[in-house]
Amino acid sequence: MPELTLVDGSGVRRDFPAKLTWQVIVCTVIAACGGLMFGYDIGISGGVTGMDMFLEKFFPEVYVRKHQAKANNYCKFSSQLLQLFTSSLYLAAIVGCFIGSICCKKRGRKPTMQIASVFFLVGAILNAAALNIGMLIAGRLCLGAGIGFGNQAVPLFISEIAPARYRGGLNLCFQLLITIGILTANVVNYATSKLHPYGWRISLGGAACPALLLLLGSVMIVETPTSLIERGKNEEGLHTLKKIRGVDNVDKEYEEISQAVEFSRQIRHPFKNLWKRSSRPQLVCGALIQIFQQFTGISVVMLYAPVLFQTMGLGENASLMSALMTNTVKPIGTLFAIFVVDRFGRRALLIEAAIQMFISLGAIGVILAVHLHSTNVVEKHYAVLVIVLVCVFLAGFAWSWGPLGWLIPSEIFPIETRSAGFSVAVIMNFVFTFLVAQTFLTMLCHLRAGTFFLYCAMLAVMCLFAKYFLPETKGVPIDEMVERVWKQHWFWKRCYKDHDTGEGGLDKPKDNTIA
Ligand code: BGC
Repeated sequence: MPELTLVDGSGVRRDFPAKLTWQVIVCTVIAACGGLMFGYDIGISGGVTGMDMFLEKFFPEVYVRKHQAKANNYCKFSSQLLQLFTSSLYLAAIVGCFIGSICCKKRGRKPTMQIASVFFLVGAILNAAALNIGMLIAGRLCLGAGIGFGNQAVPLFISEIAPARYRGGLNLCFQLLITIGILTANVVNYATSKLHPYGWRISLGGAACPALLLLLGSVMIVETPTSLIERGKNEEGLHTLKKIRGVDNVDKEYEEISQAVEFSRQIRHPFKNLWKRSSRPQLVCGALIQIFQQFTGISVVMLYAPVLFQTMGLGENASLMSALMTNTVKPIGTLFAIFVVDRFGRRALLIEAAIQMFISLGAIGVILAVHLHSTNVVEKHYAVLVIVLVCVFLAGFAWSWGPLGWLIPSEIFPIETRSAGFSVAVIMNFVFTFLVAQTFLTMLCHLRAGTFFLYCAMLAVMCLFAKYFLPETKGVPIDEMVERVWKQHWFWKRCYKDHDTGEGGLDKPKDNTIA
């Protein structure tokens, strides 16, 4: 395997010897099972809320309305309670993520992932055994806590163990497993929708599988060297660094991490420090990229794809089938990104995909506006065209705003605010997924096809943001971001103009050049 040779802006060579070792690959795949949990849940929620037997048991009024011959196409699924079922998970995830970030810093990335899997397991059991809506929601809350802990720890973990040169591709495995989780859930839903009346229990209980994978697999993985050194376990940190890099000569990288950790020790309140001017670039970009990820309209397409297809007059089976098809596109798109993200860079993918998603979502909106009236059904060939456009949209998302929404916030913060800053970004994801999930059915009911144009407008804004305000982070070692990325950016460098002080009034060492 090649050694990493990095050249910074001043032409100084920075060599962090490293191989892409099996340890790193195995740890990445196991940790990414956190993505499998998240994805499975997203896919299952959309599927079961389209199943008659599930609606009949827990949401009888939605069931009745759905089967009324003249029910309004845009409104027949609108129910506050049904929306609460989907979005209660995100409320718990917000709290889970906040506590998870403290756990990540104090106890490490690995135990945080283990706690995540236990919560998720309990949630899956509660849901599979649900006798009433209370049990169903309690289960959703546990699943949410699991996702909060997991989504906080996994991307950070991967970004910290990955050699800089492969960080993008490895981190994207998290999104790859999210999409595989969604696809698996679609397959499971398709099979269980025929098993009356308990099929939905199998679907919901299936969430236990990814949780068990993460729980059992996590016994084998290492803690990140950064987290070990951060918690004073320097010897173990050095040993782990040698092991995962596959070389003995890790002194430069070890020194770099130790320096960053040393500085971070002066910061006792990372959340408070996040509001300092010097943290503003990372905080704004990290939070915005996650908010924008949701403003692509992805959750609208994902959570309600089967519902959307039914709205267009495709039957229950045909809807699940089309959701299955469209969801096969995403893992393929993310696989493509894994191979190009460290070559083309993050920004190129974000800009290209924003344009692609703008066009496809706009076209879906036009078709629905022109051809789907309140109580009719869209003609078959238009329904097929919508499915194709959904695929184009999803492919764009899958190689850009989807995976990079997790990668970029996990790599841009310095160690002192990394866990806290990343949690703010992840919480933004949950808050905005919640808002989108909670409002989409109502929005569809009132704004109709206009809902899609609203997301188009957001995509235009996002394209400009990626072009002008987001710096490129490909190949830059994670602990050198401030010096080599933020202080060089035309806009964000202003946040470092004056003396750049941390909480303790200390200045970060100006040059931690590795000769
Ligand atoms: C997003 C989810 C989305 C999923 C689709 C994730 O990165 O956070 O909101 O549903 O990707 O693949």
